[in-house]
Amino acid sequence: MNFSIVPERPFDAAAIEMLLQVAFGPDRHAKTVYKLREGVEPLPDLAFVALDEGGVLQASIRYWPILIDRRWPAVLLGPLAVNPVHKGRGMGKALMRHSLAEAARLGHRLCLLVGDHDYYAPFGFVHAAPFGLKLPGWVDLDRFHVRELVPGAMAGVSGMVGRAPGAGRSLMGSGARSVG
Ligand SMILES: CC(C)(COP(=O)(O)OP(=O)(O)OC[C@H]1O[C@@H](n2cnc3c(N)ncnc32)[C@H](O)[C@@H]1OP(=O)(O)O)[C@@H](O)C(=O)NCCC(=O)NCCS
Repeated sequence: MNFSIVPERPFDAAAIEMLLQVAFGPDRHAKTVYKLREGVEPLPDLAFVALDEGGVLQASIRYWPILIDRRWPAVLLGPLAVNPVHKGRGMGKALMRHSLAEAARLGHRLCLLVGDHDYYAPFGFVHAAPFGLKLPGWVDLDRFHVRELVPGAMAGVSGMVGRAPGAGRSLMGSGARSVG
């Protein structure tokens, strides 16, 4: 199946919410990473969706601004979700490649995520805990990862990861809730 990757559009919000519900379930908001997203909009320049040949949204990726130790800006990747019907057809990898390249092009220096090591390691993600990076809540350290978007960007960086409210422009307009 052919698919195309396009920037997320304001009217995609409801379809993405449904996709996340299917992929991660209703308990996802309890996860530690959601603390970092509360009251913060996803970065609009790094939100992409995959559309099938009929133009129907089948996958989504978003990133959020974060601050490490209140001083080093970084981006938090996720959620990445693919419609289970279309799993294994390359949408996830294509969204990863496209968005990581865009993040680097836009000048972001570091990317963090919580996810399956075997899926993300091929994209250059390594365990984050050995660098002294911490999240504000429980996380399975085997799932906590970092990737330099600029070579050497991790030098000297460590500490607690926090929210970066105001770092992203509103994607959905005022009054809309951040989803994901
Ligand atoms: C995980 C997910 C994003 C993968 O997207 P996808 O489009 O199905 O995957 P792709 O087609 O790009 O890649 C398929 C490859 O990834 C591997 N893969 C898929 N999910 C994996 C996982 N959780 N861990 C390790 N490898 C995984 C497949 O085995 C396959 O390997 P191959 O290329 O060697 O055959 C998607 O299945 C999904 O949305 N899952 C539910 C939500 C989720 O887990 N999101 C990721 C956060 S951890």
